[in-house]
Amino acid sequence: MQVFVDTANLDEIRAAMSWGVVDGVTTNPSLIKKEVERLKAAGQQVDMDCHIRNILQTVDAEHPVSLEVTATDAAGMVAQGKALFQKYNQVAQNVVIKIPVNTYAGNSFEGLRAIKSLDDAEIPVNCTLVFTPEQALLAAAAGATYVSPFAGRVDDYIRQQSGIEFSKGDYFPAEGWEAEADEEEDVEEDMLDDNGIVSGVDLVTKIADLFEKHEVDCNIIAASLRNPRQVRQVALAGADIGTIPFAVLKAMMQHAKTKEGMEKFTADIVPEYQALLGGSAPAQPARPTPAQQTQPSAQPKPQPSAHDLINRQRGGG
Ligand code: E4P
Repeated sequence: MQVFVDTANLDEIRAAMSWGVVDGVTTNPSLIKKEVERLKAAGQQVDMDCHIRNILQTVDAEHPVSLEVTATDAAGMVAQGKALFQKYNQVAQNVVIKIPVNTYAGNSFEGLRAIKSLDDAEIPVNCTLVFTPEQALLAAAAGATYVSPFAGRVDDYIRQQSGIEFSKGDYFPAEGWEAEADEEEDVEEDMLDDNGIVSGVDLVTKIADLFEKHEVDCNIIAASLRNPRQVRQVALAGADIGTIPFAVLKAMMQHAKTKEGMEKFTADIVPEYQALLGGSAPAQPARPTPAQQTQPSAQPKPQPSAHDLINRQRGGG
């Protein structure tokens, strides 16, 4: 699975590029608004035009950058898409136009019409706000180069519909969340779902299966990703690309035993070994005092399992 970074923050894009892991960038009006407002509040003289050019130049022609339209009718989206492409693709030849699958303004098929017109004009389209396999199928048929199922927001929606409280980064089990049994009516437990979709990962899985079965030539960008485990699961589900927020990218590198192992290896570097490699040994971590040695170790808490989370949510153990 390719890795896109889901941000309009230049420092985050530069950092992730320097790690050698980024294949592209996705933005949306909310991300650009948030970043330009942040820079202005910090006293920087920026405008959106300049900021978008900086993003495009920070990556290059090998790294597509999605820019979203704002119009809600096909003619408006096509005009904006063509204007955005004409204006910005010359900066680094990497612009992809983001079109919502359904704008909910007037006729519901404006997004598909816009995708078809832009595809006819050989402008690559990332079809966004995809929440069903059916939408993905139609967007691909209309000519989208990419479809973006919003995995995290599906999980949010399923939880919201059921009145379950959650925080944005909370894990949601890929296999779904069991609905509570209705004891009075003796109804069997079933999975919570959105028209048969039991989780964001399930949405990506079904789109990937459908595209594979019917040889649909369209790239799946798993979007709205909230935690490392969800990234792993959309990759296993067959997403071609995951567009990942910077904080989640960083979290993907963390493990308590990697940290512990590094501390032990570093503590065991003797001068003779270091001399073989050149330079001087890195500073040793401070040794704990006898009093500290009797304290319980400050290991990160183990992550709760999906079932722990479900039980806790329901007031269980
Ligand atoms: C990317 O294309 C999407 O705009 C983005 O992933 C949405 O993420 P969110 O649901 O966290 O806002």
